[in-house]
Amino acid sequence: MYPITIQLIVMLFVVHFALSRQVEYKKTQSDPGFSVKERSNSKEEGHYVPKLGVRLQKTPASFLSVGPFDSVTLECEAEGNPSPTIYWLKNGRRIHQGTWEESELSQDINTNEMVTRGVSRTRSRLYLDCVSPKDEGIFSCIAENPYQRVSGETDLKLSEEERETRNAVCVAKKSFGTPARIHMWTRTRIETQGNDIQLFCRASGNPQPQINWIRGDDESKIIKDSEKYKILENGDLVIRNLSWGDLGGYTCMAKNVNGAAKTFTFVYPAMPEEK
Ligand SMILES: *[C@@H]1O[C@H](CO)[C@@H](O)[C@H](O)[C@H]1NC(C)=O
Repeated sequence: MYPITIQLIVMLFVVHFALSRQVEYKKTQSDPGFSVKERSNSKEEGHYVPKLGVRLQKTPASFLSVGPFDSVTLECEAEGNPSPTIYWLKNGRRIHQGTWEESELSQDINTNEMVTRGVSRTRSRLYLDCVSPKDEGIFSCIAENPYQRVSGETDLKLSEEERETRNAVCVAKKSFGTPARIHMWTRTRIETQGNDIQLFCRASGNPQPQINWIRGDDESKIIKDSEKYKILENGDLVIRNLSWGDLGGYTCMAKNVNGAAKTFTFVYPAMPEEK
């Protein structure tokens, strides 16, 4: 377990996050330019029912100048209900990052009509190694769920510097495999108790990385398949029948012979609505 103060800070963050969302979602209701479909089953007024949609929270700079043979990581974060997935385009064509990038959400979990607070934040990274002139172009980060799709663009250009020593490093690196890297994961998930959730952890690398999930950051507490948990083939973690006891952090660890990566997800089980 990590120190209690960290838990408290994270909890305060989540409460703030939930409340600020409430205000923002109300605001967008009166915005005629906002094209997200209304929930068909909205209950009486006064209930917190996040609208179905996606918004970008973080995108890379609109212009990026990168030295030749440098490595650069583009990062994008989106918030939405249901959980948004994120992928990248280069000059309008899809970039494939790893085997599991396009695997679908489990339908039984993610189309649950009981979901009332299923707000989550998804983050994605695009790793560009040893950038060369062929890497120049417009990169788009696309975040989507079944209700909405949003995008942000970055114009990547090479700077004029000479980097011959780095070129040598790049050539050397490329003769080995690539390390395990996590290119899409869930950062925060708020969900009503009693529902099931799917937390993303999609990794790429050569050879294909192995995935482990742990509770908190204690590497001795590896999560195993059980009635409560299921680790999907794509690396995602399913937690069933969310309860208050599931509050807290989950770490996804990806590993292959060339390197390891980990990401952290915070889960907040919200109180069910009163019937
Ligand atoms: C879900 O968990 C609660 C306790 O947290 C339990 O009472 C209930 O029976 C569980 N429901 C299912 C479908 O397993």
